[in-house]
Amino acid sequence: MNMMTTEPQSDVQRTVVDAPALSPDVASGPKLMSVSDAKALDVPGMAELFKTHLNPGQYHFMKLLGFHKVKIERAEGMYYFDQDDRKILDFFGGFGSLALGHNHPRILQARKNFQDEKRHEIAMAFLSQYASALAYNLAACSPGDLDMVFLGSSGSEAMEAAIKVAERAAGPKRPKIVYAENSFHGKTKGTLSITDSPLYRGEFRLVDNTVRVPFADIEAVENAFKSDPEIGVIVLETVQGGGGIISAQAEYWQELRRLCDAHGVLWVADEVQCGLGRTGKFYAFEHYGVIPDVTALAKSLGGGKCAMAAMIAKRDVYMKAYGAPKNAMIHGPATFGGIGEACVTSIETLHVLYEEHLIENAESTGAYLIAQLETLQKKFPSMIKDVRGKGFMVGVEFQDFSKTLPMVLRPMVGLLDDKLKGSLSGFIGAQLLRDHDVLVAFTEYNRNVIRLEPPLICQKVHVDTFIEAFDAVLLRGIVAIVKDFVKSQVS
Ligand SMILES: Cc1ncc(COP(=O)(O)O)c(C=O)c1O
Repeated sequence: MNMMTTEPQSDVQRTVVDAPALSPDVASGPKLMSVSDAKALDVPGMAELFKTHLNPGQYHFMKLLGFHKVKIERAEGMYYFDQDDRKILDFFGGFGSLALGHNHPRILQARKNFQDEKRHEIAMAFLSQYASALAYNLAACSPGDLDMVFLGSSGSEAMEAAIKVAERAAGPKRPKIVYAENSFHGKTKGTLSITDSPLYRGEFRLVDNTVRVPFADIEAVENAFKSDPEIGVIVLETVQGGGGIISAQAEYWQELRRLCDAHGVLWVADEVQCGLGRTGKFYAFEHYGVIPDVTALAKSLGGGKCAMAAMIAKRDVYMKAYGAPKNAMIHGPATFGGIGEACVTSIETLHVLYEEHLIENAESTGAYLIAQLETLQKKFPSMIKDVRGKGFMVGVEFQDFSKTLPMVLRPMVGLLDDKLKGSLSGFIGAQLLRDHDVLVAFTEYNRNVIRLEPPLICQKVHVDTFIEAFDAVLLRGIVAIVKDFVKSQVS
């Protein structure tokens, strides 16, 4: 393939160069871009390559929101810095991947030391001191006998490991898995089978031994367990992120634990997004005084700098599944599971989390954020329907304004994009970035919710900046916000 021959997509503005500027030719082989070439790409150049080689459809959405104009040059702490050195306050936080903020100095130093000492990465043939120490640390952070660890590189991989260990421990006569409405557990085929999204399921052929129940409805769980003795596993996010920051009462989790014990069902808690201190406890389930049989972490476990994920299982569950030597390699490490520098990064991440009291900060400053948002809700009841969450995992749900919008604006919005119709969050998120240099996250299943998952280093001063910006956007009123959005799309 030669990049020189790629045709631009139809909606690319033709200021774009035919091919990216390349470093001097190498003697042979394909024409490749160098790291310097990549750093030097301008916005139209990036757009061209993104659309041609990555995801043209995704570009369409980025353009709709105005995010396609930004080239991030660096990031530090709570901020991204763009091509004009504009400082963008990060209340998105990579959907919970940036507990320590961007480029935490202790993480950079740990990684640099590891590189300078020429430590090894791949240790499949040998025992790894780094993987062993990280597994020890994760067991130390986990309550009860959640002691056995599998290391991987993504939340999906950790959740695959979680489902598999639970399924084997439950045994062949209990092959069915319960999952919740509006769940998100990943996009690999196994996790997709318990991810409740017709969009992501995309008519793939999935695992069929699943049972779907409403989230936070204990009677539904009880009925399922009672009516189907083949159920062996239940998988739940402790806080549903993609569902729009939805949690359940303490009694739900306590009763769930009791029902699982009574029916011999294993409970898998997906803490990929809500874990690692985000809600004000290391695991969100710790708010309820209960312990699942298996759990999973990812995202911030990589310190905001690398891909790291872990499945953590109760010792007896793990031993049942893989304890005998003949079973040990059924789900043994993948090529990059427990890779050296990533383990060292995660070891340091856990230290920073505790030594900088970030979990406590998530609890207290998160409560401050929620209180400020509730004040805004009182000020703008026709726009903000609900404020919810815990710590730094917060959802703001807007009223569905599609019916209240003046008739003349409705078709315009509909024309722009079906997916944004009726949703204030897209318009508000776009304006927060454009006019106030603030980044927030949207929500897969509930387009009326913006998700706020700032790094756990977030201080009151950052909350105040965010609230001021949000207030200023809301003050403009629905009609001005929507008109402005429509104008931005046609100009
Ligand atoms: C709750 C939950 N589980 C699993 C995943 C999958 O993680 P990954 O995207 O790293 O595969 C995510 C990702 O957003 C998630 O939020």
